[in-house]
Amino acid sequence: MEPAIKLESLTKRYSFKILALRGISMEIEHGACVGFLGPNGAGKSTTIKILTGLIRPTDGKAYLNGKDILLNKKEALSDVGCVVETPDFYTYLTPVDTLTYLGKIRGVDDLDARIEEILKLVKLEDWADTRVGSFSKGMKQRLGIGQALLHDPRLIILDEPSSGLDPKGMAEVRDLILRLKKEGKTLFISSHMLSEIQQTADKVALINKGEILAYDTVDALGKKYFTVREVTVETADPVRDAQLHAVESMAMVRAVTVENGTRLLIRFEGECDECRYDLLRGLFDAGIKVTSFVPKGLALESVYMEMIK
Ligand SMILES: Nc1ncnc2c1ncn2[C@@H]1O[C@H](COP(=O)(O)OP(=O)(O)OP(=O)(O)O)[C@@H](O)[C@H]1O
Ligand SMILES: [Mg+2]
Repeated sequence: MEPAIKLESLTKRYSFKILALRGISMEIEHGACVGFLGPNGAGKSTTIKILTGLIRPTDGKAYLNGKDILLNKKEALSDVGCVVETPDFYTYLTPVDTLTYLGKIRGVDDLDARIEEILKLVKLEDWADTRVGSFSKGMKQRLGIGQALLHDPRLIILDEPSSGLDPKGMAEVRDLILRLKKEGKTLFISSHMLSEIQQTADKVALINKGEILAYDTVDALGKKYFTVREVTVETADPVRDAQLHAVESMAMVRAVTVENGTRLLIRFEGECDECRYDLLRGLFDAGIKVTSFVPKGLALESVYMEMIK
C-alpha cells in the first residue's frame, strides 16, 4: 500500500533570500501519529500548505495516499482533513451554518446528524447557534478541527492545533487526538512544543531551517541522541571549593555550575539510572548534603534544544 504521506525532495523558495524548505523527504505510514516538530520559521506551515494544495513547491513531489497533490489535487485531498495555521471563519455564521456549508461542498451524507456528532466531539454543542465572531481563539481552533473531521477522513493534518489554547483547551485537543488515534486515523501534527508532541505522537520528525534533522520514534530518538544528562542539586549548606572540585573530578561529570552557593547544575554523561545513582553517591562521598536531586528536563527536550540551536 502507498504511504499516507510521501514527500520527495520538497523545496520551497519564497524569494531569493528565503529558502523555506531545502529538499525534505519523508514517508508516513497509515495509522501512524507523527509529530512535526520545529521552532518558529522551521518550515512546518510551508510543508503543510504544500501538502494541502494551498501553495506549490518550487521543486519536489508530495503524495497523499499515493496521489500526486500537484497533478491530482482533488483526488489527493479527498480523504484528508486539515487545519492550517489558525483557522478563519465567516464571523456572521454559527458553527452549524459553517459546518452545513462545508458539508454540502464536500458532499457529506446525513449532514445534520454528522454536525451534531462533530460539535459534541469538539465540545461546541452549547455554542452550535452562536455566531463565530464572538468565539475565543480556542473555540475557533476546535471548530477548525471539527470541520477537518466532518467528512470522516482517514488522514488528518493539523498545523499547531494547540496554538493559542489555554491548558484546558490543550488537554481537550490532546484527548481528541488520542481518540482519533484510537479510531485508527493517520495523524500528522505540527508543533513547536515537544511536550505536546510527546503525549500523542508515536514518531517525531524534527525540522529546523527547512531540513528534517531526524525522523524516528520518540524512544529511538531519545536513545540515539541522548548521552549528556543534567541534574539540578540543592544542598543544605553552601558547597565548598574542595567539594566542588571533587564533583568536577568525577569521571562522568562534564560541567558543574554553582548558583547561590546551594544549587548545583551538573551536566554528566551516561545512559542509565545507574549513572545517576553513581553521581548521587559521589555527591554524598564528597560530603555534600543533598536535599534535592532533580534530573533536568525530559530526555528528548535536551535533544530538541541541542538540535535547533
Ligand atoms: N508567504 C511567505 N512569503 C515569504 N516568506 C515566507 C512566507 N511564508 C513563510 N515564509 C518564511 O518561510 C520560513 C518558514 O516559514 P513557516 O511558516 O513554514 O514556518 P513554521 O515552521 O510554520 O513556523 P511557526 O512555528 O512560526 O508557525 C520562514 O522563514 C518564514 O518567514
Ligand atoms: Mg507555522
